[in-house]
Amino acid sequence: MCGLPLIDDPNLLVGLEKADDAGVYKLSEELAIIQTIDFFTPIVDDPFIFGQIAAANALSDVYAMGGRPLTAMNVVCFPIKTMDISVLREVLEGGLEKMREAGVALVGGHTIEDDELKYGLSVTGIIHPQRLITRAGAKAGDKLILTKPLGTGIVNTALKGGLADEETVAKVTRYMVTLNNRASELMQEIGVNACTDVTGFGLLGHACEVAQNSEVGMRIYAASVPVFAEAVEFARMGLVPGGTHRNREFRSSMIEIAGELPDYMQDVLFDAQTSGGLLISVSAAKADLLLARLHEAGVVEACIIGEVMDQPRNRIIIE
Ligand code: CO
Ligand code: CO
Ligand code: CO
Repeated sequence: MCGLPLIDDPNLLVGLEKADDAGVYKLSEELAIIQTIDFFTPIVDDPFIFGQIAAANALSDVYAMGGRPLTAMNVVCFPIKTMDISVLREVLEGGLEKMREAGVALVGGHTIEDDELKYGLSVTGIIHPQRLITRAGAKAGDKLILTKPLGTGIVNTALKGGLADEETVAKVTRYMVTLNNRASELMQEIGVNACTDVTGFGLLGHACEVAQNSEVGMRIYAASVPVFAEAVEFARMGLVPGGTHRNREFRSSMIEIAGELPDYMQDVLFDAQTSGGLLISVSAAKADLLLARLHEAGVVEACIIGEVMDQPRNRIIIE
């Protein structure tokens, strides 16, 4: 990262050299710790819900590696001169509620004064070193499963512009506060080859990272990707966050559009997600079983959205 002189340590299983969802450090042959941190400015008006979303989002990187989060610390920036302290209390309560649901112990935190409210968590989880699921294991012939619909970034932009109605916001919020724990447990149970969570780079941005780290290509069936219908409507109107456009520009050389895909659908596929779903690469033989188990467990929007190919390497073909 930024050409920093990195420390060479044989116990560092996942570090900064090959970006993954979290750092992983081996403590013994049976145990490794997973560490991650994430915090951001509010994306919804309700402070309690913002706390829930920020916590679910921060925990997600541990789930994406197949790990079990154990402890967390609050990371808080708060404008004490302009905002009532009760807002902070609600944010922290929202975060705590998600930690309780995840079985995670809050062990501390740190607050500084800042112009803008920011909240998130630093999370520590555990995993057996041999059961680690990274972005680097996708194999030709795998099916790709996505566990949550896309479009939270677009809907949040519409919300800021006063264009999204309450019902739409409530629906999208339900997904953002949903932990990726069930999907993570099931992929560990059934056995998968690679996984990442869909966040700031959007589905295609994160798919590109899996393709690069795994040295494979992918085919994604646009019509099979679960999306919020409202997000598609807003994207058609051109309501797309700046981050989504940057995602598209950054990865354009890896993307090939085969067939008809309206321009706004590319925006949806690149839309920066908050607390998005897991993108799982699983062998074709296990894909239907995993999908059925996900649906049974209440992850009802999970879909097979594509497949992994040996060639063309480092490219994603959208059909
Ligand atoms: Co991640
Ligand atoms: Co991450
Ligand atoms: Co993260």
